[in-house]
Amino acid sequence: MGWQIAIDGPAGSGKSTVAKAIAKRLNFKYLDTGAMYRAVALKGIKLKIDFSDEKSYRFLENTKINFECGKIMLDGIDVSEEIRSVDVSNYASLVATFGYVREKLVALQQAIASNDNVVMDGRDIGTVVLKNANLKIFLTANVSERAKRRLKERVEKGQDCQSLEETIKELNDRDYQDSHRKVGPLTKADDAIEIDSSDLCIEEVIKKIISLVLERGYRMENLEQKNEILEEEVKEAEAPVEETSTSETAEENAPKYRELQVVTGTVVEVIPAQPARKVGNKEFKAREEKVLIELEDGQEGYLSKKDTVGLADDEELFDAFLEGDKVEVAIKKIFPDGGKFVFSTALVAKRKELEKFEEIVKERPIIKVKVVKNAPIGLLTRYEDFSCLIPKKPKSLLNIPEEELDALAGKEIEVVPVRVDYSRIRIIASQAAAENQKAKSAKKAFVDQLEVGQVYDGVVKNIEKYGAFVEIGNGVEGLLHISELAHDRVFKVEKVLNAGDSVKVQIIKLEKDHIGLSRKSLMPNHWADYTEGKEVGSLVSGKVVDIRDAGITVELAEEINGFLPKSEFSWNNDAVIADEVKVGDELEAKIIEIDNSKKRIILSKKQLTENPWLALTCKVGDIIDVVVAKELEQGFKVTYQGVSGYLSKGSIRNHENEVQIGAELKVKVRTLDTQKGRLVVNLNDAEEKIEKENYSKYMKAQDKISNTLGDYFASLKNRK
Ligand code: DC
Repeated sequence: MGWQIAIDGPAGSGKSTVAKAIAKRLNFKYLDTGAMYRAVALKGIKLKIDFSDEKSYRFLENTKINFECGKIMLDGIDVSEEIRSVDVSNYASLVATFGYVREKLVALQQAIASNDNVVMDGRDIGTVVLKNANLKIFLTANVSERAKRRLKERVEKGQDCQSLEETIKELNDRDYQDSHRKVGPLTKADDAIEIDSSDLCIEEVIKKIISLVLERGYRMENLEQKNEILEEEVKEAEAPVEETSTSETAEENAPKYRELQVVTGTVVEVIPAQPARKVGNKEFKAREEKVLIELEDGQEGYLSKKDTVGLADDEELFDAFLEGDKVEVAIKKIFPDGGKFVFSTALVAKRKELEKFEEIVKERPIIKVKVVKNAPIGLLTRYEDFSCLIPKKPKSLLNIPEEELDALAGKEIEVVPVRVDYSRIRIIASQAAAENQKAKSAKKAFVDQLEVGQVYDGVVKNIEKYGAFVEIGNGVEGLLHISELAHDRVFKVEKVLNAGDSVKVQIIKLEKDHIGLSRKSLMPNHWADYTEGKEVGSLVSGKVVDIRDAGITVELAEEINGFLPKSEFSWNNDAVIADEVKVGDELEAKIIEIDNSKKRIILSKKQLTENPWLALTCKVGDIIDVVVAKELEQGFKVTYQGVSGYLSKGSIRNHENEVQIGAELKVKVRTLDTQKGRLVVNLNDAEEKIEKENYSKYMKAQDKISNTLGDYFASLKNRK
């Protein structure tokens, strides 16, 4: 696998310009992954596909996308210009939200990157495509700066241009879509270095990244176009971490050698050990055996036995080193007053060990290191035989407050090695990355055990128009859709929940990147419970809780009321509710309407029985038997076959004594309207009619035609 540089960032942050330039200077292959999404969008436009349907993208099975001499080819045709239109840009953003498209393009990108040194730019390079890239950059810039750049680019290309405001809106929309999609969203990888290019010119950004490439161990020897890199860049890049801030030091003042540098020298002589001795008054201390080594420029230093590797116990330096031998040594100490260097071959060996460690670094494991001390440059720690630094800059590497660092001396902490610093023969590690990785694995473990139906005490993280995002544990958030907040319809999420609120939720949906939550599923659903199995026509009963002119409110169950309108109380219009029912009474009724959306139940009491008006057997003029039910202002209420009728006081002359409550009367039907429920009867008319009927019956009963009225009255007397 070659050397990989991943550059991610939002649209217009300068990624492609920077990536192209870096690829040119380092002689790396450049891959513009955005162009690939654009090519898919362009083909989609040409094929007039339904962009919202994932299945439409099956055309990718027969589509060839590749790069030739820096041009993007779609099915063999150069579409480099065509893919830059506003239309294609907008569709590309949509296209990039589909998992199927991403899968296809990511596989293609990884295949292209597999054998070469590459610089790749996009949105998910550091997080998905090149997870193990040697260097990950997250390039940002504020939106107005990005819009200006995009506009300038389009003007230069002679394309149709929008206003600055429109371009800002376009970028904001795309940023939102790119960073909120479910698959491969635009996010900064944990180990990416963020560069804000708002106030930097392109050249400054390029320099910065090249410095980082070199700092990460990419060797200058690998560089074919070495001379294209400015001397200054190299110097900056190769400076050890703690020296970066003082890297402006003029070159002429820079020391030629630095401690821990590996150099090659020639053995001048092996100076034998000398015991302590006294010559005259002068005392000479004991001196150990040393090898005097001279570097190319005449600078000299000593190598003593304790700094030498590979000597057997019984071997001495003079057994191993001969005058004129070339030896590779590391400079262990430089004396400021110009004294001879202290050399070490042990350190050279250690450096080689570090090279092996570099393989481990690629895996990004979490390792335990022992803190030695808190230094201004960072936390100095030890990992096995290596020293390991957790630098304080950039801030993203150490996530422990300064005031807590001193107390860590002697303790073990977990870190992730991020690179090997050969200039100091040490490991550079990130404690924050270990924290992140642990949080990520905890998150993954948490997500892996999730199941539909589980209940969590969550915390509302943010509110959107369509619902609330609720953290259910370990940084994992689910969506509590507005329709899942309560059984009753909710029009505004904030009416029920606000950011920071605790809320009990249940998992109702688990998809790859989506956790659907419900609050209402945990709440009693009185309406559904009550109405289950009930329909129009069902008989129900409940307690009367309110009586008004309009009707009666009946409590049918907990939090469920039904309404019985006055018109549904009785088939008789003159019925007075208060005469028959009072608050607290149990009332039976029939459901005549259930409205689930409004949660409304309408009841009828009268429909418990057949409409007695329709069953009446009399007609106008008939004499019927009624019972006096109640005295009214101008007359009486009478009842007949279950309906009520009206008998006016004017029609009972001479019979006042007979018209008592409960009395049975023979009356004549004056008015009958069964539709409107109206019956008016008359007592006097009845009397007259009865007389007439009796007379005609009498006459029919006599065989003599000569009977007179006098005879008839006589017969009446006899009857009595
Ligand atoms: O970088 P660009 O503007 O040319 O990208 C075009 C679209 O493709 C953009 O909306 C983001 C998307 N894209 C992506 O989702 N992943 C990538 N690796 C590159 C681009």
